[in-house]
Amino acid sequence: MMNSRYPVTITGVGKCLPENVITNDDLTKLVDTNDEWIFSRSGIKERHVVSGNETASSLAAKAAKDAIEFSGVDVKDIDLIICATSLPDNLYPSTACEVQLALGASNAAAFDIVAACSGLIYGLKIANSFIASGEYKNVLLVGVDIHSRFVNWSDRSTCVLFGDGAGALVVQRSQDGQNDVLSVDIRADGTKASELKIPLTGINCPLVEQNTPELQCVNMNGREIYKFAVNYVPESIMYVLKNINLTVNDVDTYILHQANIRIIQAIADKLHENQEKFYVNLHKYGNTSSASIAIALTDAIEENKINYPSTLVLSGFGAGLTWGTAVVRWRAKDKRKNV
Ligand SMILES: CC(C)(COP(=O)(O)OP(=O)(O)OC[C@H]1O[C@@H](n2cnc3c(N)ncnc32)[C@H](O)[C@@H]1OP(=O)(O)O)[C@@H](O)C(=O)NCCC(=O)NCCS
Repeated sequence: MMNSRYPVTITGVGKCLPENVITNDDLTKLVDTNDEWIFSRSGIKERHVVSGNETASSLAAKAAKDAIEFSGVDVKDIDLIICATSLPDNLYPSTACEVQLALGASNAAAFDIVAACSGLIYGLKIANSFIASGEYKNVLLVGVDIHSRFVNWSDRSTCVLFGDGAGALVVQRSQDGQNDVLSVDIRADGTKASELKIPLTGINCPLVEQNTPELQCVNMNGREIYKFAVNYVPESIMYVLKNINLTVNDVDTYILHQANIRIIQAIADKLHENQEKFYVNLHKYGNTSSASIAIALTDAIEENKINYPSTLVLSGFGAGLTWGTAVVRWRAKDKRKNV
């Protein structure tokens, strides 16, 4: 068990997807690809992309409102907003500050974290630590990424895989003394940073020698990332379960980062687990990076795929390279349904 002074629980979930949907067939207008290739290699059928005035901040704020309504927490009682994002609207201010403004959460501190597709698990580790220590009671955790503005739409090996979206969790000090965030473990391996990256284009001061900025879009070694995910995520899950004296038999549902159906299937095989226990919604959204775990949890709850209570494994992996796993008890009720 985690050595918590105060018990922690997740009380709300929410999501927001942009209006526009791009199907695999639509992508054939941009690159030499086809639905069969994309679906068989990734499981993706369509993805949402931002347009017009939609931004990372606007999606994040809507997902956050959804999670706040689910949890019933008073916006003014939120102590901290953590936004996990690698693709914000601005380098500063943080997306978390934009969310604070949109919500009127005037008593909350706010900051962003960058851990790519592991961002939600990293954020949960931070939220859990702040609450367990007694520093804060109510933390809003948002994951948002808008890859559509940072992929090379003429690179068929990457542009077909990603989608935009936001997901949110409300994490609180538990009112009834029961700790539901059983364990969270986060890891990183910077030696493989170049396998998946988006360079940030900047230009040197005109008074010094000029640099040559790289194209600001996704660069990915797909095969290396695939191998990394399939090797490291099962190990991470086993490590966290073992630490709290649980086994895969104690897990009701796995909510993994939704990157690729083949990755999820390979992880299930390595764990000798039934694929049925792995919730999947990536066919609708593609890889929504920091947002995917919270969006998947929200959808799974809306589709009544999560029992009450149940033990969930949440696991993320991505650029950095980063990865992480959380084991949580889910027993929150949607406060909107009690009205
Ligand atoms: C990206 C990925 C789907 C590619 O699958 P793959 O089976 O390894 O495919 P390859 O890269 O070997 O490409 C096979 C062929 O398909 C082609 N191809 C690539 N993208 C294509 C597309 N969208 N449509 C049609 N053909 C495509 C390649 O050009 C290659 O052709 P060639 O054999 O003539 O050279 C796979 O490596 C993967 O899922 N990696 C993990 C990526 C990921 O999830 N990243 C995010 C993690 S957070």
